[in-house]
Amino acid sequence: MFADAVGRLPPQPSPTPNHEYRERQQRLTSQFNNEDIFIIAAPHEAVHSNDVHYRYRTSSDIIYLTGWFDPECSLVIRNDEGTWKTCLFVQPKDTLKEIWEGRRPGVEGALSDYAVDEAYSNSELEECLADWFSSSNRVFHRGGVNLHLDALIDEAVRRRDRPRQHFGTGPTVIQDPSPFLAELRLRKSASEIEQMKYASEVSSLAHELAMRHSKNGVNECQLQAIIEGFFSYAGASGWAYPSIVGCGENATILHYTVNNEACKDGEVILIDAGAEYRGYASDITRSWPISGTFTDAQKEIYSLVLKSQEAAIAACKVGNSYTKPHDEARRVLAEGLIELGIISQSVEDALDPDNGELRRWYMHNTSHWIGLDVHDVGVYKPGGTPRTLEAGMCLTVEPGLYFGAWRPDVDCPEQYANIGIRIEDDVLVTADGPVILTDACPKTIEDIQSIVGNQTL
Ligand code: GLY
Ligand code: MN
Ligand code: MN
Repeated sequence: MFADAVGRLPPQPSPTPNHEYRERQQRLTSQFNNEDIFIIAAPHEAVHSNDVHYRYRTSSDIIYLTGWFDPECSLVIRNDEGTWKTCLFVQPKDTLKEIWEGRRPGVEGALSDYAVDEAYSNSELEECLADWFSSSNRVFHRGGVNLHLDALIDEAVRRRDRPRQHFGTGPTVIQDPSPFLAELRLRKSASEIEQMKYASEVSSLAHELAMRHSKNGVNECQLQAIIEGFFSYAGASGWAYPSIVGCGENATILHYTVNNEACKDGEVILIDAGAEYRGYASDITRSWPISGTFTDAQKEIYSLVLKSQEAAIAACKVGNSYTKPHDEARRVLAEGLIELGIISQSVEDALDPDNGELRRWYMHNTSHWIGLDVHDVGVYKPGGTPRTLEAGMCLTVEPGLYFGAWRPDVDCPEQYANIGIRIEDDVLVTADGPVILTDACPKTIEDIQSIVGNQTL
């Protein structure tokens, strides 16, 4: 069932080359002093039950700096007499463990295949840190991931032993390195964009498959299965966030993830699902009628959301404030809802953040950064001023309108009852204007109506 769609995929891109990881490490350490030491711990594997674990996903920062995906590791970057050294602590090779759980690169694999200068077994971390801390002052570390490591660093800073007293050596400050990493990760390289483009292509085809298999009686979970099955079939590691598959009134619940109801003719389904590929996220929402034909009311709302999304995407331009797409989307939505008689205020009043009626039907932001995390890092308002868009930044554009007839807080107009529409694409800002990474995903009313329901399992 996936063969046709897979045949339409582009070839998978090359992995990020090691020299690029070196450049990223260099851009980070160029902001440090020689007495700084930088430590990131990967999260532990999380237990699902007994000896079964959840799908493992390592630290996005470790992926960004080294491309290492294996669990239970720590990355230390330290200065050794004027030279920065990248040191990876990993699970050592262990034949018995590897027979049960899979092959490990181990210390040898880390050294031979990754952009690291030194590699050690995890069991050596404590001793190495004790040694390296003696010539360190500031420890760049974000706590809360590996509590044992947190305690170790905390103790090193608080220790009042003889070397500290005699020579003044040892760390005195712990500082969160996230702001440095976030600034770097906010601007995507050509290689990162290639990975994101592939994730976007996979997700676009997955949505199209779900459209093709939509018909009266299909269960939300069946459409979810098609989408997520295709993610794996196409070489993605899985979803970038739990899929939202909601039909009828469920389409009006922004982060609905129960995904277990039968879809009926007359209803609109909203699917927000994106694949993760080599750590990179995609994030697409499409909304379509289960019957394959929009009703007049559904068409009115869909056209309005699409118009607002197009205006917002056009605003994803170098030099614009990151708030401009949101402002554009809100303005178009407010004007449209006034024209439809759903809002009875002036445009200006409708947009008022406190008393404007637009909030009743459009209550979320239009954009977020996207990259290694679906809600990617990067401060939106550094120092309180909205960030200016630059080439290489990637953001989603996802306006929506949600008429939940079940809501006790609003009087939902009857003809729009339980219509939930969101249209979401991932956009790369370039010097030549916005590039829609997810443009392969059908979006116009004509395309959607020609696709929905035209394939059976
Ligand atoms: N999929 C979550 C979001 O759109 O932000
Ligand atoms: Mn999103
Ligand atoms: Mn989304």
